[in-house]
Amino acid sequence: MTARIIDGKAEAARLRAEVAEKVAARIAAGNSKPGLAVVLVGDNPASQVYVRNKVKFTEEVGMTSFEHRMPGETSEADVVALVRQLNADPAVHGILVQLPLPKHISEARVIDEIAPEKDVDGLTQANAGALALGRPGLRPCTPMGSVQLIKSVRENIAGANALVVGRSILVGKPLAQLLLEENCTVTTAHSRSYDLPGLCLQADIICAAVGRPEMIRGDWVKEGAIVIDIGINRVDAPEKGAGKTKLVGDVAFEEAAERASAITPVPGGVGPMTIANLLRNTVLAAG
Ligand code: GUN
Repeated sequence: MTARIIDGKAEAARLRAEVAEKVAARIAAGNSKPGLAVVLVGDNPASQVYVRNKVKFTEEVGMTSFEHRMPGETSEADVVALVRQLNADPAVHGILVQLPLPKHISEARVIDEIAPEKDVDGLTQANAGALALGRPGLRPCTPMGSVQLIKSVRENIAGANALVVGRSILVGKPLAQLLLEENCTVTTAHSRSYDLPGLCLQADIICAAVGRPEMIRGDWVKEGAIVIDIGINRVDAPEKGAGKTKLVGDVAFEEAAERASAITPVPGGVGPMTIANLLRNTVLAAG
């Protein structure tokens, strides 16, 4: 079998177009422009790229973008104070604090200051708890994008064996919960799991979010499985010339594509869906 390549860029463009329509309808009805505030502390290069893209797409769909950059030495108290100020600002409907934060700042402390109704990342205790309990709330963007891409190739996934490799707060844990909401039979694997290849071979859907380049090999993939690669790893690419690098996922793409029925590429798979869902959540938060 040669896999269908799932086009995350196209899927994300469709989702952003829907968001842009909703924004336009909201403004036409006399309501304010939805506003998204992004807080970036320090100068992590990957975070700077993410934030630049967030700002660009926020404006492209007709929303207001508020960008707050703070130096890496900023105190936790100052970041908390900014979050409180954004909570109180009626022009701000969504707040995203870019992770990771510098080591001297508690991410949990800062995230939990975000008003749950403005928590467009879905990471506060209130929204994470709502997801765990199956109650309404804002859902994390990358996990939602992953489920949307699965459903773009297979609408009904009820009963399917879904394996989530990774248990992070940002991706693995919430993704397992979203797949459970879709009535999948969900397994979460992690670095301490016995026989990861064996678990993968039983899965109808593999979602890889471990941050280890090309760890999931082609012969771990069941014939016809759907493979969602959430990893983004920068690795050396000597074949492109001395000192060159490239992005790869957590799945050995070429090998896995020979056995999967559908697979996401890296880049151009799940990545673009994260921002599209962030914009979608901001419109939801604006009400
Ligand atoms: N850093 C990498 N991905 C994300 C994300 O989805 N949200 C936040 N807040 N930080 C991130």
